[in-house]
Amino acid sequence: MRLAPSILSADFSKLASEIQEIESYGADWFHVDVMDGHFVPNMTIGPVVVRALRARTRSVLDCHLMVRDPVKMIPWFIDAGADVITLHLEALDDPLPALSSIRSAGKKAGLSIKPGTPVEKLEPFLGAVDLILVMSVEPGFGGQGFMPESLAKVKWLAARKRATGAAWVLQIDGGINPTTAMAARAAGVENFVAGSAVFSSPDRRKSWNDLMEAIR
Ligand code: DX5
Ligand code: ZN
Repeated sequence: MRLAPSILSADFSKLASEIQEIESYGADWFHVDVMDGHFVPNMTIGPVVVRALRARTRSVLDCHLMVRDPVKMIPWFIDAGADVITLHLEALDDPLPALSSIRSAGKKAGLSIKPGTPVEKLEPFLGAVDLILVMSVEPGFGGQGFMPESLAKVKWLAARKRATGAAWVLQIDGGINPTTAMAARAAGVENFVAGSAVFSSPDRRKSWNDLMEAIR
């Protein structure tokens, strides 16, 4: 079980120290939300910021690409020092070559679906990924409410994982707090992205510990 704080809710004017603070609580995996203003109605972080963070942390940098043209950008994030690169199924005509270009660079390849995309659409790619990300909010913004419908997708994926003995990690993203994390854990999630529940808390250490307790 792993907690992956999303820096989308951090103070962007001091990202390195924000990351270091959460690392002092035990974090070793950071979720980086990349938005291009086209795939989602928001713009955030690009490869220059990932490169700058890479120089300041040894933690896993897990880049969630919410962009219209991920194929063009994969090499940018590989060069910038990302460890995990997650693509949206909805943005790809042919996921397999895109996923394999990430893996052949020695990085972990993830595939994600938005709330409106049926989970069965992932089936053809389950042998070609290191991570599957189920979105439990509409991508674009932090601080939204958890969509409980996403748990059925998690259960379906967890069953596929058990049946096939697959090694990919099952991640969830959006509206995660101790209560929703517990429900997601029961459904089979292994990696929990949490943005506002960590960074917007008045007591971050306590929030970190409460979340860790929920997923343990
Ligand atoms: C939303 C992003 C999430 C976001 C989650 O599009 O993909 O990673 O940071 O934020 P919370 O945990 O606040 O829902
Ligand atoms: Zn995300």
